[in-house]
Amino acid sequence: MQTTQQVTETKYLTEFYHLPEFQGIEGYKKHGGYKELEKALKMQPQAIIDEVKASGLRGRGGAGFSTGMKWGFLPKNDEPRYLLCNADEGEPGTFKDRMMMERAPHQLIEGMIISGFAINSKKSYIYVRGEYDKSINSLLNAIQEAYKAGYLGKNILGSGFDHDMDVYRGAGAYICGEETGMISSLEGLKGQPKLKPPFPAVQGYLKKPTIVNNVETLAVVKYVIRDGAAHYRTFGTEKSAGTKLFSLSGNVVKPGNYEVPLAYPLKDMIFGLGGGMKAGKNLKAVIPGGSSAPVLTAEEAGRATLDYECLAQMGTMLGSGAIIVIDDSNCMVQCLANLTHFYHHESCGQCTPCREGTGWLDKIVHSILAGKGRMQDIELLLKVADNMKGKTICALSDAAALPVLSFVTKFRDEFEYFVREGKSKVKGTAFKGAP
Ligand code: NAI
Ligand code: SF4
Repeated sequence: MQTTQQVTETKYLTEFYHLPEFQGIEGYKKHGGYKELEKALKMQPQAIIDEVKASGLRGRGGAGFSTGMKWGFLPKNDEPRYLLCNADEGEPGTFKDRMMMERAPHQLIEGMIISGFAINSKKSYIYVRGEYDKSINSLLNAIQEAYKAGYLGKNILGSGFDHDMDVYRGAGAYICGEETGMISSLEGLKGQPKLKPPFPAVQGYLKKPTIVNNVETLAVVKYVIRDGAAHYRTFGTEKSAGTKLFSLSGNVVKPGNYEVPLAYPLKDMIFGLGGGMKAGKNLKAVIPGGSSAPVLTAEEAGRATLDYECLAQMGTMLGSGAIIVIDDSNCMVQCLANLTHFYHHESCGQCTPCREGTGWLDKIVHSILAGKGRMQDIELLLKVADNMKGKTICALSDAAALPVLSFVTKFRDEFEYFVREGKSKVKGTAFKGAP
């Protein structure tokens, strides 16, 4: 497979990420930091919401919901409301928010203060994945700097607007990345999702209206204010506007985070920016949007572009932008076993189809791996996965089912071979996943 164009990143959000000084407030201000906060505080809050709506910005955490529209769901009254930044980043293969928080904490903080002003929120929290020590320290330090400089606290820059910000450390549960699970966790309760509606924008943290946005989404707000919605729309497509950070991992020569305009060809990401496969290896499959996204075959990956519409048309999703590349030295049964183990472990257990279904999927795949599989187990996998979709409180059940359906359907020969022969079709592979 060849790349189609000269491959370069579009460093819009990440322009100064290579500079260590960008982490501190002085370095950040040297490169334009906090100028947009000054500008935004002189605007009407509704004008900021309108600009964000017009930019076409969609949630960068995974769901791709219109950010401006979400903000528009807040009640139009003076009731206290909260802004909650989702920095839990638990989706396997996703590590872009970590880089943003470590290298550019003020970019997020500035985006959050502007967003807080737009939605009239006086208090925000950044809920950070528990394992992200470096991100937490980077944010705590930057928040302190922002308070000292008068960008946080009372009467910010003489505008009359007050805003306080805190960091909350998660405890390593994937499900606390789901917004209602996160809110419960922040309230000191068990981190379990709740049925929606009511959506958090109407009733969230402490039963007050709460906007939950991802790190990247909130960081973009500053740039929409700086350059305007029309400029932001020069990147990407009509329905998938802007640039996006993609976390590229797996069997590529140069894994890492890459910023490109949406609708960028997936093959250019893998073979251009990612440096392609290691010598002697061929592309076999790609998970394009975090582990919940159905897998693409190499042929499908060659046709895909990285935008919400194209990937949805191909039966998968852009998700959090985590691209996991699988070469032909990997066994798809073993790859799936890693995923089924993960979802079984992370199910919170409230809903029967999810609690039992994730367990059954994991058991069946592992029995195939142990050489004890029966041909009917392949159909059983499909049946169990099918019964887990659309019936539960949150999306985890669907997220666990979708990879199973796509792996088994698209790589059925490998599952049948394993059952028939009691070993992998791919020579030289040994099970390296969870027990
Ligand atoms: P969702 O589609 O239910 O909601 C998206 C957002 O829009 C939410 O904030 C929701 O409150 C809001 N919303 C939707 N309809 C609304 C309405 N009528 N009124 C008010 N607000 C409304 O998706 P969800 O469950 O929030 O996210 C699922 C996605 O999260 C998956 O696609 C997955 O890719 C991603 N994900 C990302 C992770 C990461 O580490 N970045 C971890 C796990 C999942
Ligand atoms: Fe918990 Fe799974 Fe139900 Fe989500 S779908 S609430 S993770 S049991």
